[in-house]
Amino acid sequence: MSPYPASALGLGAGPVPPPSDLDLVALEALAAQNLGPMAYAYYSGGADEEVLLGENQLAWQRLRLHPRVLVDVSEITTRTSVLGDEVMMPILVAPTAIQRLAHADGELATARGAAMAGTVMCLSSLSNTPLDEVAAAGGGAPQWMQVYILRDRGRTRDMVERVVAAGYRSLAVTVDAPVSGRRTSELRGEVRLPDDLALPNLADESSAHAAGEGFMAVVSREFDPSITFDDLAWLAEISGLPVTAKGVARGDDAARCIDAGAAGVIVSNHGARQLDDAPATADVLREVVDAVAGRGEVFVDGGIRRPADVVKAVALGARAVLLGRPVLYALAAGGADGVGGLLSWFALEMRRTMALVGAPTIADLDPSLVRPAR
Ligand SMILES: Cc1cc2nc3c(=O)[nH]c(=O)nc-3n(C[C@H](O)[C@H](O)[C@H](O)COP(=O)(O)O)c2cc1C
Repeated sequence: MSPYPASALGLGAGPVPPPSDLDLVALEALAAQNLGPMAYAYYSGGADEEVLLGENQLAWQRLRLHPRVLVDVSEITTRTSVLGDEVMMPILVAPTAIQRLAHADGELATARGAAMAGTVMCLSSLSNTPLDEVAAAGGGAPQWMQVYILRDRGRTRDMVERVVAAGYRSLAVTVDAPVSGRRTSELRGEVRLPDDLALPNLADESSAHAAGEGFMAVVSREFDPSITFDDLAWLAEISGLPVTAKGVARGDDAARCIDAGAAGVIVSNHGARQLDDAPATADVLREVVDAVAGRGEVFVDGGIRRPADVVKAVALGARAVLLGRPVLYALAAGGADGVGGLLSWFALEMRRTMALVGAPTIADLDPSLVRPAR
């Protein structure tokens, strides 16, 4: 039995109103118990020595908020828009694979939770639930689809056609996984896709590879390591949807993505699962925002664990952030209500932080509010 019943964390009782308090460390502990060792190893791990895993979180904490005072903050709103769609908060659900390891309803529950909170879920193409079923579970909330460009372009195109038909609002193309990072805990934990789960958006043999050899094998067998900036234009052309490049860490790359036709970029290091020596995302966000110079929308993920981290990211120019592991842990702890509760709590506490820094709307968050600790 868990020492932390879901109700004690404010999860499982419905997402609106949000839980009065949420302890993310306790949430992860509860999730770890529900998940068991293999799933927890898969979700929690990073690449190599897992240096960046810690850095991603610490880099947000090294930034301080320099508050304004004597601002009327009697009305605070976190409402904004992402790629043209209104959302209740600048906090989106990052695409994470294999969510049925966390909960029997997997991606369906995450889609419901995000919709309840009034924000976007980005579905992983390595989901255990077919993408059209997840679209239906979102109940009309805008959803994004993460795409890996496969060696087999015909299969990539087929999937994109299904994504468009299902009503997804944009494609997030992952560009930081030409090969798989060396996922240490995945290797040590001998993580495999259980026999009763599949990867229905990919081919049947993908599930067989994931079950037999693990997920790193799926990357090396199926993902195309030859993709370039031209492929962003190709995806935009065949889909007619706004395309973002997910996994950008440099200003010059971000500018080239926009030149190539991307509607935006997601500053990300894949949750520290690829290049362990990459910079923390908080440390490169400003460079990317400056390089994009308003020609597209900039998003960021990686190590965002506190509502104040979201305020810092948006103040530095991010349109919104994406949460990866916290959502998986909320899913494992409380299903759809857990996910909805987590997101609503982030928005609630974000409003408190916005009041404390003297910024009543998203438009009032600007870079002058954020400074390095020293
Ligand atoms: C278990 C797990 C699976 C992931 N699967 C994918 C994926 O299928 N596609 C993708 O682009 N990113 C994937 N990511 C990366 C996330 O989209 C996101 O970049 C990262 O989790 C953000 O960092 P955070 O977990 O510290 O919030 C995954 C991350 C985790 C933890």
